Formats: sequence, C-alpha cells, structure tokens
Amino acid sequence: MRKQELEQALDAREQALARATRSPSGVDLTMPGRAQWTGGLHLVTQVVDEICGIFKELGFTRAVGPEAETEWYNFYSLNFPKDHPALDAQDSFYLGGDILLRTHTSPVQVRTLEHYPPPVRVVIPGQVYRRDPFDASHAPMFEQIEGLVVDEGVSFVDLKATLSAFARKFFTADTPVRFRPSFFPFTEPSAEMDVRCQICKGRGCAVCKQTGWMEILGSGMVHPAVLQNVKLDPERYTGFAFGMGPQRIALVRHGIPDIRLLFESDMRFLSQFAGPIR
Ligand code: PHE
Repeated sequence: MRKQELEQALDAREQALARATRSPSGVDLTMPGRAQWTGGLHLVTQVVDEICGIFKELGFTRAVGPEAETEWYNFYSLNFPKDHPALDAQDSFYLGGDILLRTHTSPVQVRTLEHYPPPVRVVIPGQVYRRDPFDASHAPMFEQIEGLVVDEGVSFVDLKATLSAFARKFFTADTPVRFRPSFFPFTEPSAEMDVRCQICKGRGCAVCKQTGWMEILGSGMVHPAVLQNVKLDPERYTGFAFGMGPQRIALVRHGIPDIRLLFESDMRFLSQFAGPIR
C-alpha cells in the first residue's frame, strides 16, 4: 500500500471515530462519568455511634439532655463546692443569671435519675462547652459521652469490668488498660482509664508523649451526695459513672495530630474516613 493510501485510511478512520463519540451537543461521550455525590457520616459521628453500640450490647440505653443548663444541674447537684473554678465566667460560658452552656454531660446523670428509677444503665452523648483555647488538643465546644449505672449491689468491680470490656471491644481484644486514681466531686473513689498507645503499641511515641499509654476517660463510683440529691438511699443503691471524649478517642485511634481537623470541611481529610449514610 502506498503512503498516500495509508494516510487517507487513517484520516477516514479518525473522522469516523470523532463522529461516533461526539454527540450533536458537542459532549465527548468517551469522558469518564462524574461520580455520584453521596455524602456520609463524619468520623466523630461514626465513633459516637460505635461507642454507643458497644454499650448497647452491654445493656445500656441512649439518653440526651439540654445543652443550656442551670448551675444546679451542671455543678451543685453533682456535689461541686460553691468556690469551684469551673463556676467562674472565665472558665464557662454563662448565658445570663445562673444559666450556662453545660461544661460536661454529667448533669444528665441527675436528670436521668430524676425520671427513671433504678436499675439505670445509660450512655449520654452530646456537645459540651468550655472557655478553652482552640488549639491542637482543645476546642471550646466538644463532644462527650457520659455513662451511668445505678442499681443495688453495683461495685468497683463492675466499673472495671465494664470499661475494660468496652476498651477491648473498641480497640483490640488484647489492648491492656490501667486505672489511675483521680478526683471528681461527683464520684468517690474516682479513676482515670488509660489504654496501651494504639500508635506505638507501648514502645513510646510523640502521640503518647513517650509514656506508652493514652488516657481515654474519667470514671468513679457515684458519690452518695449525688444519690441523695435525687432522693435515692445510698445505703441501698450504688453505681458508677464515666465520661469520655469521642474526638480525642478518634484522634488517638487514627493518629490524627490536631483536633481542629475534625471541625473543618476539607474533603481531602474527611473523605479518608467516609462512613455509611444514616
Ligand atoms: N464530667 C467529667 C469531665 O468532664 C468526666 C467524668 C464523668 C468523670 C463521669 C467521672 C464520672 O471531666
């Protein structure tokens, strides 16, 4: 075949292909389609649902309470002394009078016990507010999950067993946990729970500040004064409570260095954790 014939054949084929793939509107039908925009659950929502789901298996119900609280529910019903620093307007967001944005989800412990007689087993997710700087590890608004168990014969053994079971289910079945003595006005005794650092597996890294452990929650046995405030007899009823920060837990699990990323709408970050649609 001569060179000219070859060139003509090529041209003809090129034109035929161009006609076939270009619709009359000029749209190129060989272009890849645009993916459907589906949306999904935010990483923090997924973690909250997962944590509440684990406690559901352990017999807990999900409850909620108001974000604007009175000083009574946020502090005094929980046995805070009148001069506690959290009562200062420098530390909390007051809305006027004795109403403030709740500084923790613990007031919902009291609200729950006012409405439901024991046995009580609840988890309470929700937003809380503190006058903290917005930096890598703090935000003035953040999420907490409160837990409360009140019944006859509940002991510290139940607290340790329940929270250890949660940690092994949420992290891995062989994750070591440890309890350290702590203080909260509304629990006695009080303890903080650490889990083996999920990033370095205990060897020591920047995320766990070389300790090999990561603190994930505060807990303790419900203080008798709290039970008395809801007219329950502390001689008959005992219980335990705990509070954790799902944002911190999400950071710890994925080794995310800055909590502010969880408040941003940057899809390059968020789509790495694209969750199901609820
Ligand atoms: N409310 C406490 C906090 O915000 C956490 C906590 C909850 C501690 C329940 C003990 C029991 O720090």
